[in-house]
Amino acid sequence: MDIILPNSIERILLDEATIQQRVQQMADIISTDYAGLRNEEFLLVGVLKGSFIFMADLARRLTVPHRVDFIALSSYEDSAAATGAVRMIMDTRADVARRHVLIVEDIVDTGYTLQYLYRIFGARQPASLRTAVLLSKPDRREVEVTVDYLGFQIPDVWVVGYGLDYADRFRTLPYIAMLKPSVYEK
Ligand code: IMP
Repeated sequence: MDIILPNSIERILLDEATIQQRVQQMADIISTDYAGLRNEEFLLVGVLKGSFIFMADLARRLTVPHRVDFIALSSYEDSAAATGAVRMIMDTRADVARRHVLIVEDIVDTGYTLQYLYRIFGARQPASLRTAVLLSKPDRREVEVTVDYLGFQIPDVWVVGYGLDYADRFRTLPYIAMLKPSVYEK
């Protein structure tokens, strides 16, 4: 069956089945790595808003006990240009000290956001600190950051859907897609 694309979408990069299959694989690996922990020992921290769908799908596929929490960071102010400046808007409710923390992020681009998260959470004495990231654009990296669980590498293009936005639009598309250039040029 052909999928009818919204007008602004150029093409689908990762379709729904491909994403779901990969999220399942990631959940299986994470469930193995974190086996044996109690609910209060394993904390998933989703980075809002972009990770909310990835977080929901990943967390529901884990077979190990875990808690979920969220933080919110400042965005690129509706543009595709990174500044490197990251600011926290909302912190976690849970105390991360002595917990095994897994940061759940939608995409690593320049790397500044993950670098900031490693610094902030690393200073809070977690039992361990790792990252699960759905997408990576290696060509855009400005600072080296470790990604422990990665979904897909993608080329240097702006993508939307599955939680990712352009100017707060397109987040709830079930696939990950490229926008038509006319959308940014407006
Ligand atoms: P970094 O700090 O440059 O690595 O950027 C990470 C953040 O930039 C992500 O959490 C996203 O919010 C945003 N971002 C980077 N590339 C894209 C994209 O292609 N689509 C949507 N958001 C993006």
